[in-house]
Amino acid sequence: MTLRVTAAVMLAFFIATIVVSAPQAEAKANMQKQSFGKSEDGQPVDLYILTNKHGMEAAITNYGGTVVTLKVPDRNGKIDDVVLGYDKLDDYAAGKAYFGAIVGRYANRIAHAKFTLDGTTYTLAKNDGDNHLHGGFNKRVWTAKDVSSSHGQALELTYLSKDGEEGFPGNLSVKVVYTLTNQNELKIDYSATTDKDTVLNLTNHCYFNLAGQGNGDILQHQLMIRADRFTPVDANLIPTGELRSVKGTPFDFTTATVIGARIDQDDQQLKLGRGYDHNWVLNSGSAGSLSLAAQAYEPHSGRVLEVSTTQPGLQLYTGNFLDGIRGKQGKIYNRRYAFCLETQHFPDSPNHPDFPSTVLKPGQHYQSTTVYAFSTR
Ligand code: BGC
Repeated sequence: MTLRVTAAVMLAFFIATIVVSAPQAEAKANMQKQSFGKSEDGQPVDLYILTNKHGMEAAITNYGGTVVTLKVPDRNGKIDDVVLGYDKLDDYAAGKAYFGAIVGRYANRIAHAKFTLDGTTYTLAKNDGDNHLHGGFNKRVWTAKDVSSSHGQALELTYLSKDGEEGFPGNLSVKVVYTLTNQNELKIDYSATTDKDTVLNLTNHCYFNLAGQGNGDILQHQLMIRADRFTPVDANLIPTGELRSVKGTPFDFTTATVIGARIDQDDQQLKLGRGYDHNWVLNSGSAGSLSLAAQAYEPHSGRVLEVSTTQPGLQLYTGNFLDGIRGKQGKIYNRRYAFCLETQHFPDSPNHPDFPSTVLKPGQHYQSTTVYAFSTR
C-alpha cells in the first residue's frame, strides 16, 4: 500500500515536473528579443534572435528590417557569422552600404531620379549622383510581430510608406516576413498593397562572405547563376535596355566559376561596375514561381548558399565600393570582402517599358519570395 502511494506520489511529481518545465523548454525555443537602442527620432528599436534545430541563428532588427548576424555551421559544424554589418544601431543609421537591410521602395537605380506613370512625372530623392538608389526603407523603424509556426521561427515586419515619401506616389503598406526554417533556410516573403498606382521593387541587401564576415575577400567563392543574359549598364550603372547574352563574356556563370577568375579582365562592363555590379536576367523568367537562381560555394568552410526566388532578376554586387569600413567585432571590410545576391526586378524598370513591369495598382497584391538556403559539402 505504502509502496503504491509512494509510486503514485513519484509519478504525480514526475508529471508535474514535465508540465511545469514544458513552458520553460518552449520559452527557450522561442524567438528572443533584446533592445538594440533608439532610432534618430527616439523610437525604441529591438533585435530579434531567431534560431533553429541545427544551431543556425539569425539576428534581425526592426530598424530597416536588417539582418544583423546570420550564424551558419561549416562542414565541421563550426558556426560563423556569414554577413557583414555593424555592432551598433548608430552605425546602421549613419551607414551607406545597406548592410543586410530591406531595400525599397525601389531596389537599385532609377535614372535621373525620375519616372512617368499614367502621364504624371514623379521626381525622386537624388541620393546617388543624379540617380535615385534603393530608397530609404533601410532607415525606417518597422513594426515587429512574432509569427513563428511549425515552419520555423518567424518575424513579421510591417511599414507604411506614405504617399510622396521620397517622391513615390501612393500610400504603400509593406509586409516582410523572415522565417528561419529547420532546413537551414532564411526565407523572406514580401507583400504590399497601395492606394494609388506606384512602382515597387523590394529586395534584401545581405553582404555574404561564406568564410565568415571580415575574413578576407570573396574572390575564391565559386558562383553559379542560372541566367543566359544580363543587363549591361552605362557609366552611371543604369541599364542601357539591352538584354545581352553572357556567352563568351566574364558574365557567364551558367556553370560554377570562381568569382575572382575574370573580375579584373579588360572588359568594358566590368570596368563600368568596378567589378560585378549588374543585374542578371534569370532563366526562370517572370512567371513568379520559386526557382533556383544562384548557388555560391566557399571551399575552405564547405558552406553552400542557394538562392531561390520568384523574381525575374538578380543583382550580383561584389562589394566594389567597400573601402575599409569598420564593421562587426572590429573587422575591417575592404574592397570585395563580400558579395550580394539581390533578387529583384531589373534596375530602372520604370523607364524601360520592355522590362518586366514594376507597377503596382490599387486592388493588386504584391507578393514575392526569396529563400537563402545553407548547406555544406
Ligand atoms: C548596387 C551598388 C551599390 C550597392 C550599395 C548595390 O545593390 O548595385 O551599385 O553600391 O548596392 O548601395
